[in-house]
Amino acid sequence: MRRVRAHGKATLFGEHAVVYGHPGLALGIGGAVVARSVVPTAGRIRVSVPRLGIEADQDSPGLVGEALRRLATLLPGDRGCEVEADVSIPLGAGLGSSAAFAVLMVRAMAEVRGMAAEDARVRAVAHEVEKVFHSYPSGLDDTVATFGGLCLFRKVPWADGDVPVGVPVRPLAPDALRVALPVPPIVVGDSGVRRSTADMVAKVAGQRASDPARVDALFATMTACLWRGLDALARADHARLGEAMNACQEALAALSLSCPEADRLIALARGAGALGAKVTGAGGGGCVIALAPGREEDVREALLRDGFDAFVAGTDGVMRGRGG
Ligand code: PMV
Repeated sequence: MRRVRAHGKATLFGEHAVVYGHPGLALGIGGAVVARSVVPTAGRIRVSVPRLGIEADQDSPGLVGEALRRLATLLPGDRGCEVEADVSIPLGAGLGSSAAFAVLMVRAMAEVRGMAAEDARVRAVAHEVEKVFHSYPSGLDDTVATFGGLCLFRKVPWADGDVPVGVPVRPLAPDALRVALPVPPIVVGDSGVRRSTADMVAKVAGQRASDPARVDALFATMTACLWRGLDALARADHARLGEAMNACQEALAALSLSCPEADRLIALARGAGALGAKVTGAGGGGCVIALAPGREEDVREALLRDGFDAFVAGTDGVMRGRGG
């Protein structure tokens, strides 16, 4: 069996704004969802995550069952598969677990149906599966879940000159670029609060309907943070990158996308030496990410001491405190 796996994601900049055509910058969390086995079947598609007691097939009620039914129609052929998977990120917590699940299942199905699973095709099919979970996903999550690494995405295709000189990029797709810059490991703190991405996207849409100028100005601020953050990464200026993350958090909070638990995590992380900290993904709960190069363990311990789940993650995967 080829390695069937998918990346999680930590959005550094641009969540929500990306839905409206602004850029989003996200770091893949390597191997966040991994298939332990893929067994071909006559037609049934089933997925299980024994460690979490999760089991679903096409006939299951709920979104996972629906996603599997949609998947069956999206690839030619009629064979199915049973996938036993493991997951090293919390689910529904802003780390792109549904996109990672979609990419994993597309790769598994492509394998049993004997199709070439080039990344571009995997991403396109996973995007359709993702629609079951979030009606209008921007595409950022399935991009990162497929390609991993540091990805710069926007709905509008990139053109020459869009990315500042000095930021090394190479195209992954017309709308997706790989940024060839190292990112220090990120500390992830889980607020424990669960909310639906679709509800949070609808909440922002409601604010934009009633005050478009205010919301668009906040999106513009977030985009400015992204470019500042990328420039800082290119110069390995982590203090400036952290400042850009903090400024982005202010814009997210102004959109009511933080919550008391996330605010507490951010205060603890900054108090323990993080250079920057912000909510990541849909917000309103879920996870917070903190940049604390060289002090990751201090920050993680501060979050754990306060009763939160916390771990360190990066392109190599979930490195400490979780998984396995
Ligand atoms: O919380 P997540 O992992 O589902 O991420 C949502 C990201 C949004 O920008 C809010 C929505 C999207 O489609 O990009």
